Amino acid sequence: MTSSSDTAASPLPQQSSNVEWHGMKIDKTLRATSNGQKPCVLWFTGLSGAGKSTIADKLEQKLYQAGKRTYLLDGDNVRHGLNRDLGFSDDDRVENIRRIAEMSRLFVDAGLIVLVSFISPFRAEREMARALMEDGEFIEIYVDTPLTVCEERDPKGLYKKARAGEIKQFTGIDSAYEPPQDPEVVLKADRHGPDELADQIIGFLEERSYMMQWR
Ligand code: ADX
Repeated sequence: MTSSSDTAASPLPQQSSNVEWHGMKIDKTLRATSNGQKPCVLWFTGLSGAGKSTIADKLEQKLYQAGKRTYLLDGDNVRHGLNRDLGFSDDDRVENIRRIAEMSRLFVDAGLIVLVSFISPFRAEREMARALMEDGEFIEIYVDTPLTVCEERDPKGLYKKARAGEIKQFTGIDSAYEPPQDPEVVLKADRHGPDELADQIIGFLEERSYMMQWR
């Protein structure tokens, strides 16, 4: 278990001095063992409308049925609370992901399987999130749905507004999306349904021993 607040991976300099890291007696290993599972982050990235939240929701139900302890962090939901002060400029998206990465790390430390569903458009921030975790704890899932399909689906009518110039800095239209180069899982969400795609992730988790009971 990481024994310090070691945020060498953090992009921010520490502003607080005279603060020491306390190594608590009940640690990640104990919490993971009492939860009977191997904690990890399942990090979904992809365009708006790609299907991230729908697949993550399906997957969480399957994990729940398998007796796993999970938590789902969803971009739209977190932006109603913790990140309500952030917009969609590049800087705000970087801060959005930095906070979620740190929060995911805490939840993994709590022994949970964390599902993260954010566009998370920039490679550097996803890599920063990966660097905050221990080896094998970060599973990047690229929901690979072409922009044309997302735009056709347009579940919230946002692409239409973006094309009309009513929303600025919309991902895929006038704000960048950098696809992952080496994700653990790629989901072709224009060809398969959410249930099948969630099963594809379960298959990956089975292969890597995340589904077995930990003692
Ligand atoms: S991220 O880019 O910072 O990771 P996040 O996942 O939190 O984005 O939020 C994306 C959601 O916010 C979208 O699914 C969409 O519903 C909504 N949204 C509102 N404005 C924008 C915008 N300009 N670009 C992308 N998504 C937007």
